[in-house]
Amino acid sequence: MYIRARHQCAKRIAIFACRRHPVSCIFPVLVRKMATTTINAPRDPNTLSNYNNFLTQHTSANFEIDFERRRLDGNVILKLISIADSETKDILLDTSHLDVKDVSLKDKNNLIAKWQLLPRFEPYGSALKVSLKQEAAKGQTFELDIRVQTTDKCTALQWLTPAQTSNKKHSYMFSQCQAIHARSIFPCQDTPDVKSTFDFHIRSPLPVIASGLATGVVSADSDSGTSLYTFKQDIPIPSYLFALASGDIATAPIGPRSVVATGPEELSASKWELEADTERFIQVGESLVYDYAWTTYNVLILPPSFPYGGMENPVFTFATPTIISGDRQNVDVIAHELSHSWSGNLVSNASWEHFWLNEGWTTYLERRIQAAVHGEPHRDFSAIIGWKALSDSVREFGEDHEFTKLVIDLKGKDPDDAFSSVPYEKGFHFLYHLEKLLGKEAWDEFIPHYFSKYKEKSLDSYDFKSTVLEFFERRPGDDATATKKKLAALDWDAWFYRPGLPPKPQFDTSMVDVCYALADKWKEFGQSGTGFQPAAKDIEGWMANQVVVLLERIQDFEPPLSAEAVHIMGQRYGFLTSRNVEVVARYLAVGLKAKSQEVLEPTAELLGRVGRMKFVRPLYRRLNEVDRELAVRTFEKNRDFYHPICRAMVEKDLFGT
Ligand code: BES
Ligand code: ZN
Repeated sequence: MYIRARHQCAKRIAIFACRRHPVSCIFPVLVRKMATTTINAPRDPNTLSNYNNFLTQHTSANFEIDFERRRLDGNVILKLISIADSETKDILLDTSHLDVKDVSLKDKNNLIAKWQLLPRFEPYGSALKVSLKQEAAKGQTFELDIRVQTTDKCTALQWLTPAQTSNKKHSYMFSQCQAIHARSIFPCQDTPDVKSTFDFHIRSPLPVIASGLATGVVSADSDSGTSLYTFKQDIPIPSYLFALASGDIATAPIGPRSVVATGPEELSASKWELEADTERFIQVGESLVYDYAWTTYNVLILPPSFPYGGMENPVFTFATPTIISGDRQNVDVIAHELSHSWSGNLVSNASWEHFWLNEGWTTYLERRIQAAVHGEPHRDFSAIIGWKALSDSVREFGEDHEFTKLVIDLKGKDPDDAFSSVPYEKGFHFLYHLEKLLGKEAWDEFIPHYFSKYKEKSLDSYDFKSTVLEFFERRPGDDATATKKKLAALDWDAWFYRPGLPPKPQFDTSMVDVCYALADKWKEFGQSGTGFQPAAKDIEGWMANQVVVLLERIQDFEPPLSAEAVHIMGQRYGFLTSRNVEVVARYLAVGLKAKSQEVLEPTAELLGRVGRMKFVRPLYRRLNEVDRELAVRTFEKNRDFYHPICRAMVEKDLFGT
């Protein structure tokens, strides 16, 4: 760690120092204060921008959505401020596969000496270097106007033909910028360590949604058939939260400050799915942290190729249509994305190396919401499912792998390659551990303190540590001395840097005991074929997640269940016809492990209608083991259906490219 500290930034040096001091010491805070005024190197290794010299304060995004050419065409105006002590002439911005047409400085164009795209540097793209004629003085601001078009190599956008949409009537497009794909839409400082306010002027023939509040629509001009949709985002956000979607979209209310947006034919089902829970969830979030900051909380249900379960774009969460399952059993995705309104969107990880601060906190808040709405056992229920996902990730990476640590090294790496359940679940367990260690009452005071301290800012794990220590150092109370002792004994380094699984807590298993008992019966049935008559009533009244626990338990059987037993299970429990993809995907995985021929076609069929990576990637991996020819054929057939990010990941999984 020392080497890492030395060649990185002042903050790391502070942390190194901090490790040598008693945990209650405020030394790290002092050192950092001194150090950051003298050394100021970027702490995000996944950007080519020199955000230690210039910071984006405001971004104006002006685009025409050109469905015919499948590109965005327009300009961005970046208002930058020079912050460096040592004066500099060069502004470096992230771009990836962009067609930059021109760069000028508003009002002061004579100050630009030249601009150029530097050679591509994988996996980060090509820096756009704008050289000024003279050094920028600290505090000086500029408005950089960049004319730009996206290209067909853009990794953030998916363009759908009318035939690929549900009513087959209109084209559709949407963006997905997290983690480092915003740079393939417009030149920017593509790091979560920089936050900018935004305004959007988007011209399109179809309704537009963006990650800001709508400020107006200038309706269609008869020549072009396009309208101008405007939005503003006055809360500073990192580039990865920039979002756009346009298509045949209608909206309906799902609460006093919420709407759902989706295709007109899907509107009433989507409204039903979400209207019972959304406002309740917001209110619990507010009671745990503080008031919801983004005015309205809305959900856009995307076409089925959306590669994630949900994406926490401000004002409008983007969500997979697989959550519209007709049983309100997938609304945990909404509790999760809503929680990002505090963790991630207001308080952001400073780099993807500290992604657990976004996802671990969000998973923690999501489960607190579940507990408040449905009762405490639901928190453990969700945590038990999470533990399984965590164990699977650790097994797949290998238990010593860098990406099984809470704080990871991403220098030279693509954050998409590190994506797994680890930051979610290990992050959750770290916070859950702190809650138990410090007591729920005290911890519940810490939550709003933390989210206030870093509101509209970004932080890393070392800031988190010093904030915990500082808060509990100052907090009065009868148990203050005991708390400090506990914190002094806490092994922060083990939590941050030890690979593999964290200590497993004692879960309340009241909601899963029936699932384990039924799984045991299947085990016996699989081994002897006797002693148990499977019937639909076995799972009658179960929540979908209880079926998920059953199937995950069965997935781990060694030896696997026979193809015959899998057939009986599918028949009696109706798994293949379930509307809940969480259930179907896991049943197919059980079948593939049993090498059942019967599940091959249904697997290929699912892979052609769902593009959510959580299902697509494991199913391709398993299908590949059973029938590589079918896996490759299915992928080639559906290549255009998948979002570019999903396509790239499956390509890596299947072909290792
Ligand atoms: N922010 C993530 C999705 C994401 C992560 C996109 C990293 C790109 C890079 C989102 O909040 C998320 O975690 N979605 C989950 C939802 C689940 C945990 C309820 C998903 O997509 O499955
Ligand atoms: Zn998340």
